[in-house]
Amino acid sequence: MFTMSVHSFSKVLIALLPLTVGAHTPSLLPRHGIHSRQSNPTALPGNWSLVGCFTDISTARTLAASSTAGANMTVEDCISFCSSGDFIFAGVEFGDECYCDSTIQIPGARAPLTDCSQPCAGNASEICGASGRLTIFTSGDPSPILVPAPTTGWTYQGCLTDNTANRTLPVPINIPVGVTAETCTAACQSAAAYTFAGLENGHECWCGNSTNTIAEHVSDDDCRAVCSADHTEYCGNANRIAVYEFTPEGAVPPPPLTCTGDVSNFTLVAVYNNPPTWFPNSSQYPSRTGGACPQYFLDDFVGLRDMLL
Ligand SMILES: *[C@@H]1O[C@H](CO)[C@@H](O)[C@H](O)[C@H]1NC(C)=O
Ligand SMILES: *[C@@H]1O[C@H](CO)[C@@H](O)[C@H](O)[C@H]1NC(C)=O
Ligand SMILES: *[C@@H]1O[C@H](CO)[C@@H](O)[C@H](O)[C@H]1NC(C)=O
Ligand SMILES: *[C@@H]1O[C@H](CO)[C@@H](O)[C@H](O)[C@H]1NC(C)=O
Ligand SMILES: *[C@@H]1O[C@H](CO)[C@@H](O)[C@H](O)[C@H]1NC(C)=O
Ligand SMILES: *[C@@H]1O[C@H](CO)[C@@H](O)[C@H](O)[C@H]1NC(C)=O
Ligand SMILES: *[C@@H]1O[C@H](CO)[C@@H](O)[C@H](O)[C@H]1NC(C)=O
Repeated sequence: MFTMSVHSFSKVLIALLPLTVGAHTPSLLPRHGIHSRQSNPTALPGNWSLVGCFTDISTARTLAASSTAGANMTVEDCISFCSSGDFIFAGVEFGDECYCDSTIQIPGARAPLTDCSQPCAGNASEICGASGRLTIFTSGDPSPILVPAPTTGWTYQGCLTDNTANRTLPVPINIPVGVTAETCTAACQSAAAYTFAGLENGHECWCGNSTNTIAEHVSDDDCRAVCSADHTEYCGNANRIAVYEFTPEGAVPPPPLTCTGDVSNFTLVAVYNNPPTWFPNSSQYPSRTGGACPQYFLDDFVGLRDMLL
């Protein structure tokens, strides 16, 4: 059932490249320049700089947190829109579209800079991506974090699958001030001394005294949607819940379920119409040390991606 072509695997390897390299690396530019009168603007506000040209698909956006579009779209307008929303990435696409996020989400992958070749609707001398191609810029500000220990006694346990038909944590909690790791864990504690709290989809908080046994532990990379209420933190993702557990004072905290290794430069996001039931669990893969854990989840994702496209 689960197969992986060499072709799609190489696409994932491209996605693994550090995303900051493109910003100041002239060798990534076409050797003889772009054969048009458009260019990427060099004088950008603040510390904003070009990251590069990336793939995008409508069912799983490369920059997924916020968007706008308009007949006057320019690179500067998009940066201003994303910057005012406190996002660290801004991307222009198809001439007049603008997308924001603080993570470059998978399956977004670096594409040749020459793929991004469409003039901006609001300034024909600037490039605004192309069809299915985003020109991405970054403010250079730090990435959001998965908060490891948000409030006293609460520790991050890992990223689990969730689905609307059978919830990983049963009790939804409305938090008027906005969902963050801090507010959600505190709300679950005060609601009924729940021992588990979970963040999902950027803005949901769930509580319970146990996690559903059908939930699968997946890579932390899956739980990297920016919290709507605080763009310095991650709040799970679509069908992915970042789970926290409470340990009473004096007790030994449970060992975290997290993978090892630095995977801060990319994020897996799968958007399913129907979450697959055959998603492989981690025991089907050899355990590895030295931070290799994210790799086998990337392999998983290629399968999902091939299913989607
Ligand atoms: C992530 O990017 C930083 C630069 O921002 C780089 O130093 C680091 O090596 C990258 N990590 C990985 C795993 O690529
Ligand atoms: C259009 O973009 C070019 C290149 O970034 C810039 O020099 C020029 O000032 C812009 N024009 C307007 C009207 O903003
Ligand atoms: C640009 O980056 C520098 C060095 O990180 C920082 O000191 C400065 O505040 C940044 N400027 C803006 C406008 O963010
Ligand atoms: C485009 O900008 C011009 C001048 O700033 C403005 O008059 C016009 O209404 C704008 N059009 C749209 C569709 O935003
Ligand atoms: C959840 O478990 C805690 C600790 O065992 C208990 O105090 C609390 O009453 C439980 N809450 C519910 C709703 O069962
Ligand atoms: C929900 O998950 C439980 C396992 O925790 C399982 O026993 C039950 O059959 C599932 N229900 C549905 C409707 O899938
Ligand atoms: C994970 O996959 C292995 C191998 O297919 C299987 O034996 C095991 O029961 C699965 N575990 C869960 C929790 O589904």
